[in-house]
Amino acid sequence: MPTSGARTVGCLVPAAGLGLRLGAGRPKALVELAGEPLLVHAVRALRACPRVGPVVVAAPARDVEDVADLLASYDVVVVPGGASRQDSVGLALAALPPGADLVLVHDAARCLVPAQVIDAVIDALLAGADAVVPVLPLADTVKHVQGPRVLGTIDRSSLRAVQTPQGFRRDVLLRAHAAAVVGATDDAGLVEALGGPVVTVPGHDEAFKVTRPLDVRLAEALLAHRDAARPDRPDPPAATGGRHVR
Ligand code: CTP
Ligand code: MG
Repeated sequence: MPTSGARTVGCLVPAAGLGLRLGAGRPKALVELAGEPLLVHAVRALRACPRVGPVVVAAPARDVEDVADLLASYDVVVVPGGASRQDSVGLALAALPPGADLVLVHDAARCLVPAQVIDAVIDALLAGADAVVPVLPLADTVKHVQGPRVLGTIDRSSLRAVQTPQGFRRDVLLRAHAAAVVGATDDAGLVEALGGPVVTVPGHDEAFKVTRPLDVRLAEALLAHRDAARPDRPDPPAATGGRHVR
């Protein structure tokens, strides 16, 4: 089992959502990007980081067998997810093997997360953080509204958009989930509700969450771009027809 120093890093992958905003008529984890299910891309991104040890995927309950087949070559445990993201993370946490004392929680929907984000989160945990979130500054102006009326503009300079993987000491994540605060939209929010410290590391544009149909096109364009930039990519066939000028 891979370790980071004396520590073992486990990863929980909530992948049991319905993908309603994507509207593909099937769970988002099974929607194909460039010919492969989104969840396969997500697990491949995690497995590209050798410091990630045991991985537990929370899959849509009716698709557990299919998901286990899809991921057979990636050495992951697959469990049925729950009705909410928080439930799915809790169920995956319950199935995490005992040796992992540091835990990442990574949305399957952030399927193209670059390795540098995963590494930055693990580095912060190894440096002693209880809880870590990757963040980006906001690009848009943010306004407070009531119905159609603008009440004011929020100073965005201290606001951050939060991505995954989020990282935790296992005991901290267990306590946060045991307290199960209603209304938290991420795992770090559960830690914050208990008054626990959470630190940030730089996120990455390519760790965006596939949420709406345009995101599928963006993800496929990014995959094509990465493929074209691969150093081992075979040269394109030489042009044979010469140049035609009219
Ligand atoms: N998730 C989960 N279990 C749920 C709901 C969500 O494991 N009951 C997971 C999703 O599969 C996704 C991540 O949590 O990887 C973030 O959720 P989101 O992007 O909202 O995905 P969905 O809930 O599937 O999408 P939607 O809200 O549009 O239905
Ligand atoms: Mg959702």
